Amino acid sequence: MIPHRVLPVLCGLGIAACASAIPLTEQVSEQQILGDDVTSVTQPSGQLSGRFLHITDFHLDTHYKSGTSVERVCHREKGTAGPLGAQGTECDAPQTLIDETFRWIETNLKGKIDFVLWTGDSARHDNDERIPRTAGEIIDLNEVLATKFIDVFEDKETPRGLSIPIIPTIGNNDIMPHNIFKEGPNRWTRRFTEVWARFIPEHQRHTFEEGGWFLAEVIPNKLAALSLNTMYFYESNSAVDGCAAKSEPGYEHMEWLRIQLELLRERDMKAILIGHVPPARAGSKRNWDESCWQKYTLFLNRFRDVVAGSVYGHMNIDHFMLQDSHDVDILAAASESESENSSSHDPEFAVQSRSTYLNSLRENWAEMPSPPAEMSSLESWSADFFDADAASEAALGKKAQRFLHKIGGPWAERYSVSLVSPSVVPNYFPTLRVIEYNTTGLEGVTLWSDSPYSDDSVESVILEDIDTDELDEEIAKKKHGKKGKNNKKKKPSFKVPNHPSPTAPPGPAYSDQTMTWLSYAQYFANLSHIYGDSSSESESEHSQQPSSTSKENANANADVSKSLDLYTVEYDTCTDKTYKLKDLTVRSYFELAKRIANKNRRKHDAILEVEEEEEEAASSESSAEDETDPLANGKKNGNRKKKHRNRVWRTFLERAFVGFLSDDELDDIIESEVPE
Ligand SMILES: *[C@@H]1O[C@H](CO)[C@@H](O)[C@H](O)[C@H]1NC(C)=O
Ligand SMILES: *[C@@H]1O[C@H](CO)[C@@H](O)[C@H](O)[C@H]1NC(C)=O
Ligand SMILES: *[C@@H]1O[C@H](CO)[C@@H](O)[C@H](O)[C@H]1NC(C)=O
Repeated sequence: MIPHRVLPVLCGLGIAACASAIPLTEQVSEQQILGDDVTSVTQPSGQLSGRFLHITDFHLDTHYKSGTSVERVCHREKGTAGPLGAQGTECDAPQTLIDETFRWIETNLKGKIDFVLWTGDSARHDNDERIPRTAGEIIDLNEVLATKFIDVFEDKETPRGLSIPIIPTIGNNDIMPHNIFKEGPNRWTRRFTEVWARFIPEHQRHTFEEGGWFLAEVIPNKLAALSLNTMYFYESNSAVDGCAAKSEPGYEHMEWLRIQLELLRERDMKAILIGHVPPARAGSKRNWDESCWQKYTLFLNRFRDVVAGSVYGHMNIDHFMLQDSHDVDILAAASESESENSSSHDPEFAVQSRSTYLNSLRENWAEMPSPPAEMSSLESWSADFFDADAASEAALGKKAQRFLHKIGGPWAERYSVSLVSPSVVPNYFPTLRVIEYNTTGLEGVTLWSDSPYSDDSVESVILEDIDTDELDEEIAKKKHGKKGKNNKKKKPSFKVPNHPSPTAPPGPAYSDQTMTWLSYAQYFANLSHIYGDSSSESESEHSQQPSSTSKENANANADVSKSLDLYTVEYDTCTDKTYKLKDLTVRSYFELAKRIANKNRRKHDAILEVEEEEEEAASSESSAEDETDPLANGKKNGNRKKKHRNRVWRTFLERAFVGFLSDDELDDIIESEVPE
């Protein structure tokens, strides 16, 4: 086994197509030991590093007390809550974990990333009726986090006082009552305008105060991050109703998004979309109102030349989703949202419902077009697939051509991808993600840190003067046109954006070019390991100490001061041999999704870890208990059906839960699948 920490180094040696993952401080010495000519770890000042941080769901809880009971959300009574958080529980994150996380970021990432995407839920959950949250506390917790970012990235020498841009977004627990967010301006948009004053560009503050969304050029004139207020799309927000009706803030938000993307297209810029609640839509899970999902999916398809990628949080499980533009029905998007079943009120979203959701995703992926036989051996599929650009398309057989047509073209243009990073709060283990992107051709661009706010004339003129003239035109047309409820020709009540110009090259989300996301390294803090390491000396102290807060904190600090390497690489797609992600383009994810969904044992990736002999006992299938709780069964039925396993699917599940689940628990999830 290659030790985790060496992976990024190998990566830097050019084993994979992507550039080297973030070189951690402790890795520098390993590089030196190896004596290899690894590219210098910090970019010369004034250059992009080609990396950014995605971090999400801190859920800081200042009531957390080490040594209390996880049954009491780590607030009181004697228990096992550790100083850095209670992994695998519903407890929120102690201040110590937040402090150490930022210390780690400062030590390992400062000067090596170009911007931060911070996707919300910084405040603790409202999960203890004895200590109800107050609006003041929620704002205070957010202020603590904002200050942490400022402390790490402050640079008084630069015009904006920060070395890199930090892009926050509002989470469903950053407001009160949670999930409920009314049309702006409201007290939350006003308060967050203040809390995030250093992060929201001056000329965007008005926009933000109105709706809670904003745009920031993270690489001036090249790349913009659009912070979406997903509270207006969120099914569980009963104060609003989707994106279909003109009176809804969600409608206005989508109009804003469309217009921004149009402007960015005109300026030949690229966009990153960030939000808290992701557009999950699989099985009974519907995070967003359907009308919002429809518009979003439509826009991502139409602006596929502009959007470089999108990141979300909220779900605390590591996964991705593909939006299928064939599921877009403009009329549905334009009409009032249908009543859909939704399970998004589920407050726990425990392993059980999470695995059900992941299974639904997999079922959806299984239904996506499969490559024809001539491309279907997965080993050769890769090669064929990646060579299948426009030039060589003619060389492919008819079936292969038909397949490419089905998926929207050689770059799988039919689809778009949303990436979800798991959380800092240790529902499993604390994590954060560093994404690499292609900066070829960006040498010598003006950096965000060198461009003062006052230099934003272009931005402000264009963005402030937009009105929705075109939109009104569209509506006028519609009024004079035919009416009739079931008229298939009915025009949608919003402007449908154009496709990219037919001569435009595929966008950065589709083919590797400048701004394309190349790989990511998922970092995690194995709290079990960290607690285990110090246990021999100090465990007894911990558990037996009377709960004197100051003493415990002293203890905690003593423990963690050693753990500069709090976070280590869980996996790095740059070197990962299971996912085999050549880059993070839609096509790469499409291919990965098909491999995860593959149930054909003869195929390369359906590794037979467990051989047939174990299958004879099989008749029992999944029992009723399996359906209700895969974890409760344990090993009690020895005659569980050991189906052939798909190694990629298993790895996907393992990573979804940040490596926290045991082999048995993973087996149980896999075996509780509905039989084909
Ligand atoms: C919605 O839920 C009801 C039961 O609550 C079920 O009978 C129905 O089939 C569901 N509809 C959809 C579209 O899932
Ligand atoms: C980055 O994009 C350029 C084109 O802009 C391409 O030639 C190059 O191969 C890409 N680099 C990486 C590391 O993928
Ligand atoms: C975390 O640490 C524990 C204890 O050292 C170890 O047993 C486990 O395998 C580790 N988990 C991961 C995902 O590395």
